[in-house]
Amino acid sequence: MAAIIIVDRDPEFASKLKDLLSRESGQEILIAPSAGRLTEQVTEADAQVVVFGPSTPLEAALEAVEALSARTPLTGSVLVVPKITTELMRQAMRAGFSDVVGAGGTFGEVASAVLETNADIAKRRASSGLSGMSPQARDNRGKVVTVFSMKGGVGKTVIASNLGVALAGELGLRTVLLDLDLQFGDTGIMLQIKPERTIYDAIQVYDRLDSSMLRGFLTHHKSGLDVLLAPVRPEEAESVTASRLSHIIELLREIADIVIIDTPAAFDENVLTAIDKSDEIYAVATMDVASIKNTRISLQKLRQLGYDETQVKLALNRADSKVWLEPSEVEHAVAGQIAVRIPSDRLVPRSVNKGVPVVIDAPKSAVARSLVDMARKVAPVKEAKTDVA
Ligand SMILES: Nc1ncnc2c1ncn2[C@@H]1O[C@H](COP(=O)(O)OP(=O)(O)O)[C@@H](O)[C@H]1O
Ligand SMILES: [Mg+2]
Repeated sequence: MAAIIIVDRDPEFASKLKDLLSRESGQEILIAPSAGRLTEQVTEADAQVVVFGPSTPLEAALEAVEALSARTPLTGSVLVVPKITTELMRQAMRAGFSDVVGAGGTFGEVASAVLETNADIAKRRASSGLSGMSPQARDNRGKVVTVFSMKGGVGKTVIASNLGVALAGELGLRTVLLDLDLQFGDTGIMLQIKPERTIYDAIQVYDRLDSSMLRGFLTHHKSGLDVLLAPVRPEEAESVTASRLSHIIELLREIADIVIIDTPAAFDENVLTAIDKSDEIYAVATMDVASIKNTRISLQKLRQLGYDETQVKLALNRADSKVWLEPSEVEHAVAGQIAVRIPSDRLVPRSVNKGVPVVIDAPKSAVARSLVDMARKVAPVKEAKTDVA
């Protein structure tokens, strides 16, 4: 049975955690004083989770996990740190950690974080069958595209829902729209679909969730698009943690040719997870000063996190608004090239109010055509999957 490895110099921490974990999990628990030979040890022991204790230098832990997540994606990793900060969270997420816990709490808290990751990985190993998947089958997984902006009201949801409808309807691809605006998600309203099942329901059966179960929580739109809706009650949003979300996105990639993720105006752990899982990220900007300033900062952050121009693209919405900036000035100001331009049109608020996406409501309009063009750009180049639902 797959093992758990604890990396820590402090023998007391390591042995206490080992006792707790072996009692709770019944698995073999190994202790490594440093991350030096970790890659070999992970392979030898078929490690399901690696825990980095608080005395492991942060740099060493980050480096080790970066190498691990590239090689063995089906090994989880938990970082135990003296104190959690947002910056540290970001570094850890970026490196590929499954979870981060503060050492300030009890051993029980650390152990339960490890056990949760452990169970999560066990399930992923079993349900996705990824471990035994051929490289070809892996290539067949869907593309993930996140629509992003730290500012609200710039048109993320308009773009994401129209993209979804165009990809499914116009281009005939199996498309899932994931509404990650967990507090105020309104893709359901824009598409006029009733929220009978949402991501919250999928989380309720998370322990058994596989791709075919997840299909049951999607809501079908008449264009052919499937939507995983945001929770109905804002307080339900808390159940969607970064590690659960990460697994759900992987399952959606098995179901669809392309997964479009609509996001809240934030840079929180869930958005970071979505970005991290994405093949492409569209940063949406409008031509006002606040949006441009925000976009510049977002693009800077994304570059710091290691995403380059091939992954991060700029979508200029309401591109012809009568303001003092030219598109070229926008490019200069945000230090990025505009990949997509969507004109401003009163047809858009009208279509939002009707709950009929503009690509359906006014397909001949310039705004609809620009959105369909964008869909063609983001569509994966490989052939569509045959429907296995
Ligand atoms: N291209 C556009 N032309 C005209 N109005 C638009 C356009 N894109 C978005 N809007 C308007 O802006 C509002 C906010 O868009 P929305 O997609 O909800 O923003 P976000 O998801 O970024 O908060 C929409 O209700 C819509 O009426
Ligand atoms: Mg929105």
